[in-house]
Amino acid sequence: MVKITINNKEYQAEEGCSILEVALHNGIEISHLCYHENLSVYGGCRLCLVEVTRNGKKKLTTSCTYPVADGIVVETNTPRVKRARRLMMELLLAMAPESPRLQAYARELGVNTSRFKLDGDGCIRCGLCVRVCDELVGANALAFANKGDKKTVVPPFEEPENCIGCGACAFICPTDCIGIEESGDERKIKRWNKTVKMKQCTICGRLFIPYAQIEYALQKAGGALPKEWFEKCPDCR
Ligand code: SF4
Ligand code: SF4
Ligand code: FES
Repeated sequence: MVKITINNKEYQAEEGCSILEVALHNGIEISHLCYHENLSVYGGCRLCLVEVTRNGKKKLTTSCTYPVADGIVVETNTPRVKRARRLMMELLLAMAPESPRLQAYARELGVNTSRFKLDGDGCIRCGLCVRVCDELVGANALAFANKGDKKTVVPPFEEPENCIGCGACAFICPTDCIGIEESGDERKIKRWNKTVKMKQCTICGRLFIPYAQIEYALQKAGGALPKEWFEKCPDCR
């Protein structure tokens, strides 16, 4: 365990944790968008900026990427932090001006409009979709392409062939820019232009899972899961 100070109060923290994790665990709110407790750290949105003093030197840093160390002093709300966070918020807002979640965050930070003029397509490049697809779903259907302001998320080679239509990426996306459309027995993951057929529950008739996801789950389970398991939806099992 190490001792750290956040906003003039001392906390015990487990080594290896980030400042953001310790703050959230102790009920201290720090704005964040690309951090998720079940996924690897990416450090892309830069909204979680704080000031850290270590060995007499003070610097601005992202709290989700900074591991705690004994004796560090963290300030989450200084004028410098607020200015930097507002600037980041303006950039994010320019990328996703229509996002209600971003707009709400912006209001909280006192940002009403963005000075940046970007061709905002709704994606803030937070990488949550890429990480959830790779680390939790295991389908690895998405990747980042290009660099700098041309950076974007795409299915590798523009072919979403690994996508099983599970919808996890759309669920986790903070700006709702991926989108799911259900029509008849089909589900379309709109941003990746991927359409999958849905399986119907033999009891209640509800379309509840893509066939591709069933195949994938059976393959992963390697015989430990009977095929009949997917005949009924979770509610009817
Ligand atoms: S819907 Fe496709 S791209 Fe999205 S998480 Fe599932 S497998 Fe990955
Ligand atoms: S599509 Fe959504 S989840 Fe994926 S990087 Fe863009 S904003 Fe993040
Ligand atoms: S939450 Fe830390 S950089 Fe996004």
